[in-house]
Amino acid sequence: MTVFLAGASGLVGSAFARAATRRGHRVIGTVGSFSGPLEGLARQIPVDLADPAATTSAVLDAFPEAIVNCAAVSVPEQCDADPARAQALNVDLPALLARLAHHVSARFVHLSSEQVFDGTLRTPYAPGDAVRPINLYGRQKVESERLVHAAAPDFAVTVRAPLLMGNSPGGQRSLHERLLADWAAGKTPRLFTDEFRQPCTAENLAEVLLELCERPDLRGVHHWAGTELLSRFELGERLRAHFKLTAAQAPLAAVARAAVPELAARRQACLALACPSLNGKLKTRAQTLADQLGELHVPPPVRAWYFSL
Ligand SMILES: NC(=O)c1ccc[n+]([C@@H]2O[C@H](COP(=O)([O-])OP(=O)(O)OC[C@H]3O[C@@H](n4cnc5c(N)ncnc54)[C@H](OP(=O)(O)O)[C@@H]3O)[C@@H](O)[C@H]2O)c1
Repeated sequence: MTVFLAGASGLVGSAFARAATRRGHRVIGTVGSFSGPLEGLARQIPVDLADPAATTSAVLDAFPEAIVNCAAVSVPEQCDADPARAQALNVDLPALLARLAHHVSARFVHLSSEQVFDGTLRTPYAPGDAVRPINLYGRQKVESERLVHAAAPDFAVTVRAPLLMGNSPGGQRSLHERLLADWAAGKTPRLFTDEFRQPCTAENLAEVLLELCERPDLRGVHHWAGTELLSRFELGERLRAHFKLTAAQAPLAAVARAAVPELAARRQACLALACPSLNGKLKTRAQTLADQLGELHVPPPVRAWYFSL
C-alpha cells in the first residue's frame, strides 16, 4: 500500500519507514528541518506541517491508503517554550490528517503518549482510564485524540507510547544517545531513582504501527509499552553496562524527585501502561529491556569519543 508518513525524520518515523519498506509498502515521507538522506522512503518531501494548505496538498498528491502521523513537538519543554507551534503540530495537524484520511478513505494511525496520565498510580493505566495530564504536551495529546477520533471514527487508531529508546537519524534524540552525548562532554547526568517508566524501542513501536496500517479492524485508543517498569536511574545504569562503560567513564548521579521539586512537578512519578487491547492481537511482541538494549547502536556524534576509550 502507499503510506503517507508525516514526520519521517523523527525517531519513530524513521523506524517506521524502514519497517514498512521491508514489508513491501511504498512510503512517501515528510521532513521538516532534516536534510540528510533517509532509508526506506520512495519519496522524501519537505513540507511545513504547520501549514495546513501545504499539508493538504501533499496528502492529496500522494492519495495514500494509509496515513501515519509521527510528526509532533514531542519534548514537553519545547511545547512550553512555543505553545503556538506545539498546538499546530500536536493538535491541529493530527485533526487535519484525520479529516483528510476520512476524505480519501485511508487508514489513519496516530501517536499519542503515556503523558495523558498524571502518573500518581503505581498500577498500570488501562486505555479506558480517566486521563489527567499535568503538562501542556499531555493536554495537547488528549485534545488530539478527541479530535482525531471525532473526525475519522471509522479509519483512526491511536497508540499511546511510553518513553522511547532507539536509534534516531541525527543520533541525538533518544535516551541512550543523550546519555552518551553527556558522558562524551564530561557531564554527569542526574537521574531520578523514584521516577518509573516502561520503555520500548521506536523500532518495536514502528512494527506495531505497521501492523495497525494493515489491520483496519483495530480502531480507537490503545496502549503499547515494553514488559518492564524501571526507574530512570536503573535505566541509566543498564545502558551504561550495555555499552561496557565504567562509572568513571560514564558517571551517573542518583537523585530523588523531592530534591528537585520544580522538575518533579512537571513530570509524572510512575507511568506504567497496561496493553490488553494490542498484546496478543498483534504479531509484534512487547520487548524486555534486554531485547531493547540489543537494538541500540553507538550514535555517530559520539563514535570518536567512544572508540577512543
Ligand atoms: N520520543 C518519545 O519518547 C515519545 C514517547 C511517547 C510518545 N511519543 C510520540 O511519538 C511521536 C513520534 O515521536 P518522536 O520521538 O519520533 O518525535 P521526534 O523524533 O521529535 O520527531 C518529530 C518529527 O516531527 C517533524 N516535525 C516537527 N515540526 C515539523 C514541521 N513544522 N514541519 C515538518 N515536520 C515537522 C520532525 O521533522 P524534522 O526533524 O525534519 O524537522 C520529525 O520528523 C510523537 O507524536 C510523540 O509525541 C514520543
